[in-house]
Amino acid sequence: MTNTTPSNTTSADTLTDTDTDTDTAPSTVDRAAVNVEIVRRFVDDVINDGRRETVADVLHAGYRYHGPDGHVAQGPDAAWQIVDGFRSGFSDLHAEITSAIAQGDRVALTLVMTGTHDRDFMGIAPTGAAIVLPVAVISRLEDQRIIEEWEYYDSAALIGQLEAASPAGGTTLVLGASGKTGRRVLDRLRSAGVPARAGSRSSDTRFDWDDATTWAPALVGVEAVYIAYYPDLAFPGAADTVGDFADLAVASGVERLVLLSGRGEQGARLAEERVQESGAKWTIVRCAFFNQNFSETFADPIRHGVLAMPGGDTVEPFLDADDIADVAVAALTDHRHSGQLYELTGPRLLTLDQAATELGIAIGRDVSYRSMTVDEYAAELIGYGLPAEEAGPFAQLIGDVLDGRNAHLSDGVQRALGRPPRDFADWARDVAASGAWNLEATSDDSQ
Ligand SMILES: NC(=O)c1ccc[n+]([C@@H]2O[C@H](COP(=O)([O-])OP(=O)(O)OC[C@H]3O[C@@H](n4cnc5c(N)ncnc54)[C@H](OP(=O)(O)O)[C@@H]3O)[C@@H](O)[C@H]2O)c1
Repeated sequence: MTNTTPSNTTSADTLTDTDTDTDTAPSTVDRAAVNVEIVRRFVDDVINDGRRETVADVLHAGYRYHGPDGHVAQGPDAAWQIVDGFRSGFSDLHAEITSAIAQGDRVALTLVMTGTHDRDFMGIAPTGAAIVLPVAVISRLEDQRIIEEWEYYDSAALIGQLEAASPAGGTTLVLGASGKTGRRVLDRLRSAGVPARAGSRSSDTRFDWDDATTWAPALVGVEAVYIAYYPDLAFPGAADTVGDFADLAVASGVERLVLLSGRGEQGARLAEERVQESGAKWTIVRCAFFNQNFSETFADPIRHGVLAMPGGDTVEPFLDADDIADVAVAALTDHRHSGQLYELTGPRLLTLDQAATELGIAIGRDVSYRSMTVDEYAAELIGYGLPAEEAGPFAQLIGDVLDGRNAHLSDGVQRALGRPPRDFADWARDVAASGAWNLEATSDDSQ
């Protein structure tokens, strides 16, 4: 035994037993003293020094432990496991006895356990927290061994101490971080003080969908990912790429994935399934055609009074990327959105002709819709600088999603946020006021 009795510890030999027969008094005092020494030996040799071999000397074979929160464990091995759990989590664990009272076959101890949380404990990663845990133990002894113990400490307060000291979880990786939705998601997370890392080819943490060696480094320390794929989930191979990334993310410790998806796209459905099967907590944000395609991707034609694309007289519920970002951030930060598939649309179905009219009203100049075939649109996209291998599939995709399959409203924004989505006309008015469609503006400084 290595411990010395602290000054405020009541020495057992000053205690009286309930058996007050004067003939037996000396042995009574001895029994109390012996019992205290046995309990002390458990504290010093087992808890403080980690000597497992002592367990069998001080604990009865029929040992029974009653812990806080109604926890009951049976047998010396179970007692060792409890001690070992603490010793594994706190390499410098130390129990200091502050009082000891013996009476009959029982010993009551108060202890203060101290230690530094420098290894995993009850699933909580090391926090470096210095714990101070008051503990009370009543032991009942039989045949000079402890046969039953009742231990009291505030386990919830202990976990609370550790969780309070936990570094603020992991970070959130935002892919497509300079794009229409990723930029908004990143801004919102950072404004809310949520640690967030930008991931794209041009960001500090380089992330390239076409270079899988960039994925693992971007995932270090990450607990949630916003996945905005580029060029488009509907493109061939996209679902496998996103699925492989989702699997790697989960293997790297990521808990939550929020996938930006598109309505009416078969390839996107496959990508959604891969994310749903990844083992992460997932949220799918399946979106209608973005308003911002008219202000951030292809602002120039609008500036010059033309909305030219396939679609004819179909209707589409155009959607504000600010609504998408609000939903994505909610899903990244609030577990209640986990397992939800939100289909997001704007509040109103508009033909492309009506959308052009709304844009014209907002800008204060005529904007007219010009219908075109998919092939004509592909040629137009190449004219805007899109590589031919992207322009064709993009044009086809636009032709597909505007063929009437998506001509209905959905309530995803309301379901996720409890508020309606923003109307196209309100959005157009604000963008026009920002000057994004001014004739002197270029596509580079559009909002
Ligand atoms: N537009 C719509 O109406 C619509 C509707 C429904 C769904 N979607 C989905 O939206 C997604 C696109 O998201 P978005 O519109 O927010 O982005 P975006 O505005 O198209 O911007 C693309 C983003 O991806 C990054 N990027 C480009 N190539 C990349 C690569 N090879 N590897 C990694 N990052 C790359 C870009 O940054 P760097 O240049 O720095 O890499 C940028 O941050 C698509 O998957 C599409 O399915 C779009």
